[in-house]
Amino acid sequence: MSKTFIREMVSTDHPALLDLFRETPGITLREADSQEATKRYLQRNPGLNFVIEHDAGIVGCVMCGHDGRRGYLQHLIVKPEFRRQGLGEDLVNRCISSLKELGIDKTHIFVFKNNGLANRFWQSKGWSLREGVNLYSYTASGNENA
Ligand SMILES: CC(C)(COP(=O)(O)OP(=O)(O)OC[C@H]1O[C@@H](n2cnc3c(N)ncnc32)[C@H](O)[C@@H]1OP(=O)(O)O)[C@@H](O)C(=O)NCCC(=O)NCCS
Repeated sequence: MSKTFIREMVSTDHPALLDLFRETPGITLREADSQEATKRYLQRNPGLNFVIEHDAGIVGCVMCGHDGRRGYLQHLIVKPEFRRQGLGEDLVNRCISSLKELGIDKTHIFVFKNNGLANRFWQSKGWSLREGVNLYSYTASGNENA
């Protein structure tokens, strides 16, 4: 198997990323994943979003942003044939160290309760499960897939 390397995500990665999102169980595609929204997200959060490149194309990714106070991770994915080699952890570490450079020391991720693989991953990496927090969401457009 040839080598993988991590590079910053760019907006032209969007079609390949959509393919990756669609083929990954546990990842829900939203309007917020449109080309325009992704471009805006990358412009707002430079140096925080990464992909894993391989001869086979993009085989992993992570999206990360912040609100000036806390970091937020989304869409952490490693293709099945590349898993359990530490690539998921490498992607997360890139985000955490970039956030640290911005002075942001605490980061959150929302994980579906029924995504066992993801929950095992975060717990094995020492992330704290927040039993005492309920997540409330409001959708201004009325579109539940916003
Ligand atoms: C979560 C994900 C990104 C992890 O990627 P990865 O490259 O395998 O991660 P790493 O190799 O850094 O770490 C794997 C660790 O997670 C845990 N883990 C992963 N799969 C596991 C399993 N089937 N059983 C138990 N633990 C598991 C282990 O601690 C494992 O470490 P180990 O291999 O030393 O035992 C990958 O599984 C994935 O893409 N899942 C589908 C998408 C998804 O649900 N993303 C998360 C959204 S919040």
